[in-house]
Amino acid sequence: MKTQIIIQLIAIEGFASTVATCDQPTIHYTSMGCTPSEQTNDLGCPISFDCLNLSNRRKDKCYLFGKTYNLLEDVPYKEISSACIGQAKCVNFTTPEAYFINAHNDCPEFFRYWGANCVLQYTVGECCSTGKVCDDDRNALEKCSLDGKTYLEGERMQIPGDPCRTCICSKDFDETNIMSSEKCFVQKCSFEINNEFKPEAAPVYRADMCCPWFWRSPAATDKVIKGAGTIDDPKLQCNYGDLTLNVGDSLEPVTTANGVGTCSCSIPPLVHCTLAKEGMN
Ligand SMILES: *[C@@H]1O[C@H](CO)[C@@H](O)[C@H](O)[C@H]1NC(C)=O
Ligand SMILES: *[C@@H]1O[C@H](CO)[C@@H](O)[C@H](O)[C@H]1NC(C)=O
Repeated sequence: MKTQIIIQLIAIEGFASTVATCDQPTIHYTSMGCTPSEQTNDLGCPISFDCLNLSNRRKDKCYLFGKTYNLLEDVPYKEISSACIGQAKCVNFTTPEAYFINAHNDCPEFFRYWGANCVLQYTVGECCSTGKVCDDDRNALEKCSLDGKTYLEGERMQIPGDPCRTCICSKDFDETNIMSSEKCFVQKCSFEINNEFKPEAAPVYRADMCCPWFWRSPAATDKVIKGAGTIDDPKLQCNYGDLTLNVGDSLEPVTTANGVGTCSCSIPPLVHCTLAKEGMN
């Protein structure tokens, strides 16, 4: 499971600040290269995202991080290196619909002990450590303070309460202005490369995880609960299977093996779901 979580995260830089202040999950949109509307809602979120060709993705193409790949095309290494994926190719070997095959790139440090007196050195955009600093050489490293803990230069730091953000400790790290550091970044999620994404489905989030935990697929029993005072505006509607939801509408909650999912249309075009806490184990 640990490997799975690491693999779901990919670094992106230059994240739009309008998205960063919003507390609704939008990482499914930003990971697919969707463009946020300039207009924001009361929660500081874009009122919608523009996801080019989301519902009419071609069956003979693969889509990843806003780019389109032809059958038998390889994804450039730089697109996937931070996700611990060494190779990815768009194919249709077993189904008529194109999908990715990929090879995970396991880092030596996942398996091999690197020494108690060493600090692994990480780089933005790379999955694996790129070196280590050992023994007395560690004294020359910068220190970072985050949430009461001290880190040494080159170490990866997870930002408390914000599972999508990662920083690498460096001289310019400032706990009070985290995103000002050049070595802090927001993740992208690799559900497209894992072939989990379906345009008719809805991402399901857990509070403690950055990327969708799974995708809820439409069922014939799904019902819409109308929100109070919602308006019919075709530009502000979510699609979920055959259902159309206005902003403020939700789906009747369903109990899954992973807990109770509450799904609503808040930032079109996709419905998104959150899992109730008691279901998270
Ligand atoms: C996007 O959709 C349009 C209209 O359906 C289609 O002509 C075009 O080929 C699609 N582009 C990609 C990259 O899938
Ligand atoms: C893969 O795509 C090619 C070209 O479109 C097609 O001829 C072939 O039948 C497809 N393979 C499968 C398994 O559907």
